[in-house]
Amino acid sequence: MRVFALTGAGVSAESGLSTFRDAGGAWTRLDFRDVATPEGFARDPERVHAFYNARRANLAKVEPNAAHRALGALQQELGVRGGRLYLCTQNVDELHERGGAAEVVHMHGELRRVRCQACGWADLWSGDLSTAITCPRCGRAGGLRPDVVWFGETPLFMEEIWEAVAGSDLFVAIGTSGAVYPAAGLVEVARRARVRTCEINLQPSDNAERFDERLYGPATEVVPAWVARLLA
Ligand code: OAD
Repeated sequence: MRVFALTGAGVSAESGLSTFRDAGGAWTRLDFRDVATPEGFARDPERVHAFYNARRANLAKVEPNAAHRALGALQQELGVRGGRLYLCTQNVDELHERGGAAEVVHMHGELRRVRCQACGWADLWSGDLSTAITCPRCGRAGGLRPDVVWFGETPLFMEEIWEAVAGSDLFVAIGTSGAVYPAAGLVEVARRARVRTCEINLQPSDNAERFDERLYGPATEVVPAWVARLLA
């Protein structure tokens, strides 16, 4: 069986990482235009660095939860059985990897990576970023930015992702509000390819009616139970 899983902030919520649009979420406290757009970065780079520095530092304090671990186990087990779990996440944390997934496609980039806007150099980065830090390759200061996708930028690996959705037997969206495209449009790609669709979320998402099956409750409970049923 070939499964495509799209995950969002809800899968990491019970690890202690806040979501974006729920009560208390990042976009209820902050204007995303200030901290998650190229224009916001050009206007006030230190403010943007502070937002991502805090989130990067917070990663050291959180652990993967039962939903991450169940998806890691599903990827391993489907591989053994000659199938596949294509695990595609909008999350910039690395909790899927720490939960045992060997292959994760980060369509919105990764907090633990850095990129130089001046020369394109990119690598892992664990400390804070600031405009004073120089690029290890080109030596310029001010060009380093988190290697994440901001609003107005194109998400990564889209051709490969569309192909993987269409080539699956089952598409499952987990812990995502369905508010941000192109991720929110993947369920339509699945439907057009006659792939069965399933939504797992705390409550019906913006796209709920597009799914054949809908399972509601905390990801740490619903995902392990769903994985167990799938593998039974
Ligand atoms: P959202 O904050 O929009 O949605 C989180 C979803 O998770 C909501 O539908 C919640 O109901 C659900 N949820 C919350 N807690 C849950 C739990 N314990 N178990 C299951 N579900 C739970 O986050 P995303 O959909 O991931 O992009 O947001 C998509 C993108 O918008 C993000 O990647 C980010 C953001 O702006 C960028 O920054 C470019």
